[in-house]
Amino acid sequence: MLEFAGIVVAPRPGGGWAGEFGRPAPLHVELGVGKGTFISELAAREPGFDFVGIEAQPEVLYQAAKKVMAREVRNVRLLDFDVSGIVDIFAPGEVSRLYINFCDPWPKKRHAKRRLTDGRFLEKYRAILVAGGELFFKTDNAALFAFSLEEFAQAGLEVRNVTSDLPAGGAAGEDVMTEYEQRFRALGLRINRCEVVFP
Ligand SMILES: C[S@@+](CC[C@H](N)C(=O)[O-])C[C@H]1O[C@@H](n2cnc3c(N)ncnc32)[C@H](O)[C@@H]1O
Repeated sequence: MLEFAGIVVAPRPGGGWAGEFGRPAPLHVELGVGKGTFISELAAREPGFDFVGIEAQPEVLYQAAKKVMAREVRNVRLLDFDVSGIVDIFAPGEVSRLYINFCDPWPKKRHAKRRLTDGRFLEKYRAILVAGGELFFKTDNAALFAFSLEEFAQAGLEVRNVTSDLPAGGAAGEDVMTEYEQRFRALGLRINRCEVVFP
């Protein structure tokens, strides 16, 4: 990862990401960035925001780092890190928005607590999000989507703009397609999406 110094960085215990980016800007965090198509494109579209991407597989993160470098965006940092430790690397209220795109569905009931929209994860997100902070969620998996909507409701979160058939690129061309999304759309699958607000 040495060739990506400045893009792939060490986790910051306790947070303080404005120090890493050298400016105070709203911080958006993508959980499970995969090969980085989404975060690199979004960062190019939104230069006024800073982006942190978290990915637990180093070889996948390497692909994401290549993409961020090729896109020549300066407002992205990538971390080889597991989402379960997220409260250790952001200060309370430091994050404005989280993105979860096509996270692993973990279909077996005994693995439900590994789903990134399980209530235990939602409490971690609540701890690092600013009041009124958001979680934008997309998945092809209808069962995971139904589970997630229940978890959001149980956690007392407001859910808006729910759709089980997101048009490619979003209703107004504002949405960025991920690698998995491209694959699923090519198979003719419908994409579920919602926005969650943490009061
Ligand atoms: C199904 S892929 C989706 C990748 C990308 N978001 C997309 O839509 O194309 C899920 C990704 O999340 C990562 N991931 C899953 N659980 C994770 C966790 N607990 N912490 C960090 N990354 C995780 C996986 O390694 C994988 O790259």
